[in-house]
Amino acid sequence: MPIELQWEIPAPDDLTSIEALLGRVAEACFHTEGIQGAGFAIRITDDGGIRSLNRLMRGIDRETDVLSFPTVDYPAGKTAAGCPKRLRREYDPYLGCVNLGDCVINLDRARQQAAEYGHPLSRELSYLTAHSAFHLMGYDHMKEDEKAVMRDMEERALASVGMTRDAEPVDFDGLFAQACEAMQRAYAPYSRFQVGACILAGDGRTFQGCNFENASYGATICAERCAAGNAIVHGARRFRAIAVVGSTAVAWPCGICRQVLREFSDASMPVIVGAFGKGYEVRTLGELLPEALTPEDLGVDVGTQSNDH
Ligand code: THU
Repeated sequence: MPIELQWEIPAPDDLTSIEALLGRVAEACFHTEGIQGAGFAIRITDDGGIRSLNRLMRGIDRETDVLSFPTVDYPAGKTAAGCPKRLRREYDPYLGCVNLGDCVINLDRARQQAAEYGHPLSRELSYLTAHSAFHLMGYDHMKEDEKAVMRDMEERALASVGMTRDAEPVDFDGLFAQACEAMQRAYAPYSRFQVGACILAGDGRTFQGCNFENASYGATICAERCAAGNAIVHGARRFRAIAVVGSTAVAWPCGICRQVLREFSDASMPVIVGAFGKGYEVRTLGELLPEALTPEDLGVDVGTQSNDH
């Protein structure tokens, strides 16, 4: 294993397979740099933990997302691939590899950034790991030209494990506006509570939905599930965000809709909820539906399911 994962806070349930993923990311970074037989420790902490460390080690009394502490002292302008002798000196017989140092990740900040970008927490942790790995290999981003080189290395490494360039941050206002538009088409003669929804799919397409009620009340379909159906029939199975709006009150998604959405989105998916003309607030789906039963729990990968199953 090229990394050793250490939890300084209790490990959450949604990150059970993160060690293997971050190990692959680290290997990809070493491969992109052109070195072999290296490793580093990843310590996961929270806002408080990283702030104390930042104060202690750098005299900066603030939270940050990631801190890197290289063991190798790279000469100016050189990175790991150009310093094989220095690297060999850091060989750790206990680890069985060259110890490049420590990467300390703030899980609170990673969750927040994942929600802002509308991508899974695992994607954000992978990015932070890659960023730190290149710091541990002598890269920096103080000057613009250095920054471009470091960013390019990170992107190449992440692309090689199937993670392409950062997706654009989710346009919360735009998605909410589309939910408001869909709300106008709601069929709600019984409750008179019109609800609109709009899903942003992983491929950038958006799918609207509205509630449609029934004389047999229980046959009613909520706006969120209408939007989900709309997405599915158009072949979109990964949801990046959803906006939901109620005509006279905040339309908190009902329990069934939360579970349906979780089938096609990660716990980190932003849910933008509001009332018409009164603005919105943003939660993650994991906040609305903790401890969910997911396709992964049953060994299913939604993205790879063929249409015959
Ligand atoms: N409803 C939705 O469409 N979505 C929600 O998030 C909550 C409830 C609908 C169902 C029904 O037509 C009406 O609102 C009153 O419950």
